[in-house]
Amino acid sequence: MNAPVALSRSATRFAVPVSRWDDSRAAAMTPAELLLYRSNLLGSDLTVTNFGGGNTSAKLTEIDPLTGAAVEVLWVKGSGGDIGSMKLDGFATLYQEKLLSLERHYGGPQDDDKMVGYLPHCTFNLNGRAASIDTPLHSLLPFAHVDHVHPDAIIALAASSGGEAATRTIWGGRIGWLPWKRPGYTLGVQLRDYVKANPHVEGVMLAGHGIICWADSAKACYEHTIELIADAAAYLNAKLADAPAFGGEKVAPDDDRAAIAAALMPRLRGLMTGARRKVGHFSDDGEALEFVGSVEFERLAALGTSCPDHFLRTKIAPLTLDPARLSDDAYLAEKLEDYRRLYAAYYDRCKRADSPAMRDPNPVVVLVPGVGRMTFATDKTTARLAGEFYGNAINVMRGAEAIGDYIALDEQEAFDIEYWLLEEAKLQRMPKPKPLVGRIALVTGGAGGIGAATAARLLADGACVMLADRDAAAVEEVRAGFAGQYGKDVVRASVVDVTDESQVEAGFQACAREFGGLDMLVANAGIASSAPIEETTKSLWDRNYDVLAQGYFLTAKHAWPLLKGMSAQGGSSVVFIGSKNAVAAATNASAYASAKAAANHLARCLALEGAPAGIRVNIVNPDAVIKGSRIWDGDWRKERAGAYGIDSGSELEEHYRQRSMLKRDVLPSDIAEAVYFLASDMSAKSTGNMINVDAGNAQAFTR
Ligand SMILES: NC(=O)c1ccc[n+]([C@@H]2O[C@H](COP(=O)([O-])OP(=O)(O)OC[C@H]3O[C@@H](n4cnc5c(N)ncnc54)[C@H](O)[C@@H]3O)[C@@H](O)[C@H]2O)c1
Ligand SMILES: [Zn+2]
Repeated sequence: MNAPVALSRSATRFAVPVSRWDDSRAAAMTPAELLLYRSNLLGSDLTVTNFGGGNTSAKLTEIDPLTGAAVEVLWVKGSGGDIGSMKLDGFATLYQEKLLSLERHYGGPQDDDKMVGYLPHCTFNLNGRAASIDTPLHSLLPFAHVDHVHPDAIIALAASSGGEAATRTIWGGRIGWLPWKRPGYTLGVQLRDYVKANPHVEGVMLAGHGIICWADSAKACYEHTIELIADAAAYLNAKLADAPAFGGEKVAPDDDRAAIAAALMPRLRGLMTGARRKVGHFSDDGEALEFVGSVEFERLAALGTSCPDHFLRTKIAPLTLDPARLSDDAYLAEKLEDYRRLYAAYYDRCKRADSPAMRDPNPVVVLVPGVGRMTFATDKTTARLAGEFYGNAINVMRGAEAIGDYIALDEQEAFDIEYWLLEEAKLQRMPKPKPLVGRIALVTGGAGGIGAATAARLLADGACVMLADRDAAAVEEVRAGFAGQYGKDVVRASVVDVTDESQVEAGFQACAREFGGLDMLVANAGIASSAPIEETTKSLWDRNYDVLAQGYFLTAKHAWPLLKGMSAQGGSSVVFIGSKNAVAAATNASAYASAKAAANHLARCLALEGAPAGIRVNIVNPDAVIKGSRIWDGDWRKERAGAYGIDSGSELEEHYRQRSMLKRDVLPSDIAEAVYFLASDMSAKSTGNMINVDAGNAQAFTR
């Protein structure tokens, strides 16, 4: 599937950033806008900082709204958010004088959490943006502009036994070094005192964490930050040029790694019990393959990640698997069980009297030599970001090992950050996830009217959706539209003709690789045809049976292993889009109607067969969904109009409306609503049912 990756050394070098400051753009900006410009420039450059990481500040003169006097106000990136995409309202603004006066409440490191509670009292101009725990780092330093970032090249120095010496070599004393201290007021005090004692320094490395530096103007501060990162990257690259990273290659990338991941991820996902369902993300980029295939892989992976930003996303250590044993279910179950047990032991060893309850003990990052990196989280974006953060951690380890030994964060320190009460409070404040977050659906015929409406309904409630359709251009167009509406992470498309078994298999494989498995199958791909029996050719008959009967069979058959795998997590569901014509006889449409009836009966057989594995199978029977359906764009429309002896335009719609008991149009979104009910846990106790969505049709009443 994937072309073999040639791991050139340059692919795993540190990027050397350059200044992107544009004087002509900056010329007309206010001081606050300059701070924003600088922040966005830093944050949108992934060589500078990882997603959401880092913070920036400026001490600006503002007019106090009450007194009218000029006051010094600290503008500092607020809690949460991302400096690359933030807007002006992402900054907290605080009276600098009040911030400095807080020190009278500080008696030592035991007061760190308490100090956070004072920050809102310093708010300037009723700004509702919460100040971050890094605020003291900015307020206590006596400089107008301060940047704090965590680029990989910098953390590599900060997390290496050779980092302090390298810092001296690179910058000759211009950059200081502070031992690890977790973020908070104490770190701010230590930093201020250090700078007071070393007045010549232009920035300080924070061991195990990142760097903080400053300047007199926004531009100078930005360029200073860029220069320091570039210095560190160039230094590490020179070291990395001397010897292969991580001791060289032990396991070469497997050419079948995408297929191996597709087979493995659903099985892991099914075994990650005891938590909300997860979505997976697979990466086999050069940095991941180089790391997992290296001589030093097992040793380094076991050490865990260093930077708090990294391990909050990735958990302290990944699960590593032996590529030779992936087909052994007992092995996988045991490895996951071991991981959960070790995580619980870590929790028990490190917990404090007031620690929040243990969180999900399943691994986030799973690494397999020759295959790559898989990450699992309750939603796709979080899973992808966890993978990217682990990529940052790999970079850090590579650089750190090039100049000494990589040093992971002390276990108790890691625990104290992971289970920080303030972090817990943030988690508790998060909005309740949408009902389908963590669920994965595949919709055949996903480019069509009913398929796309169903996908939209599932996406709107948080599901990830694989659109499968034989029409490549149409399915890509629908995917792109949904990506714009619901985010690029949650929707994928694959070109699948349901009459071709190998394409069906490949579609499910793509779903497993892209999202990690399957919870909901909507078998919907369909056609319609109309002809009296004597004019029904064998090929027309076969076409209907190929798509509607055999196509549904192939789709269900190849979904089955994935669906079965979710039995320990509350099961899975299949919805067949049937038709009124599956239960009510149709004139001049025997091939179509009888094939639909076959599919409906198949659904009931599968309901029986699937129940022991928690697979529910139900049917939605639409009728006369004219608006939005592409079936009704074609010959079917003329043929049906012909069969009723009416005009194929508006008369036809009126005909169907009047034929319905409720005298109403049936829309794709009406079908989608019924599918949603049957696909989701709302119908957890229903299987083998059919729901007619046809505005009422007595002929189709089920009995
Ligand atoms: N529209 C109605 O009035 C109506 C009524 C009863 C049943 N249905 C059923 O609803 C389903 C969806 O129909 P729609 O109205 O949305 O039609 P549509 O034509 O808008 O969508 C059908 C989609 O299926 C795709 N498709 C067709 N053959 C395929 C194949 N072999 N492999 C993969 N994809 C294929 C098409 O490319 C299209 O995107 C069909 O099964 C249809 O029989 C529709
Ligand atoms: Zn930081």
